[in-house]
Amino acid sequence: MEYTAIQAPLDGFADTVRQFFEGGGMGLNVTVPFKEQAWELADQRAARAEKAGAANTLYQNSEGQLVADNTDGQGLVQDLTVNHGVQLKNANILILGAGGAVRGVLGPLLAQQPASLTIANRTVAKAEALATLFADEANVTKLSACGFNEPDQSFDVIINGTSASLQGDLPPLSSNVIAADTVVYDMMYSLQTTTFNLWALDNGAVRVFDGLGMLIEQAAESFRVWRGVQPDTAPIIDVLRND
Ligand code: ATR
Repeated sequence: MEYTAIQAPLDGFADTVRQFFEGGGMGLNVTVPFKEQAWELADQRAARAEKAGAANTLYQNSEGQLVADNTDGQGLVQDLTVNHGVQLKNANILILGAGGAVRGVLGPLLAQQPASLTIANRTVAKAEALATLFADEANVTKLSACGFNEPDQSFDVIINGTSASLQGDLPPLSSNVIAADTVVYDMMYSLQTTTFNLWALDNGAVRVFDGLGMLIEQAAESFRVWRGVQPDTAPIIDVLRND
């Protein structure tokens, strides 16, 4: 089995996918900026990909149809709940951002039945649109939207899904959102502690995690979709963390 990186030209994603499968390829992972195009290109979509509006996993079914899936949300939930032992059921969760990254994980997060899920974003209207889009999946969860300056109480779990740190920015949150037992998760990852997690540590957080585990878990879930085998991720996490 061979798994390598392919750089598609910005205006040639569909051709690259077609050539890959014509050449005998079995499955593709897709990353930015092509996740929305992958979703559009597919003949069929897994239920969890449908609402996400983006796909990170493509494969052909036995009829040769292109199927899109999205394993990002499962990757995040698996990393939080299994690798880090964080309970999401009945938790009060604050998620920052309302772009593609957040939209991709809302379904699997809501499926964990948190007590509340607050979506905070710079552009409040985008957070509100996401809350409306996922209202029917909220079930027992109180799902709401707001700006960064609004939350003033502590949360059990805070997830950063903005790309603010790419511009060296921080979402302007009150430090009141953090208590000593708050779990802080930055979907970004880097060799050093991420900008957001540094801010959280400075403001009293003790348990902070970055998105490396999510990266590994979404890949493992894609592998399961393609091959029907659940890979053991612990050794991979170990190697990547320590190399
Ligand atoms: P992605 O696919 O990574 O989610 P995106 O769809 O462009 O990318 O969304 C980026 C997210 O990061 C958005 O929530 C964006 O806020 P806006 O909706 O207000 O644009 C957020 N973001 C980007 N730069 C930011 C910054 N400097 N400060 C705060 N939020 C920022």
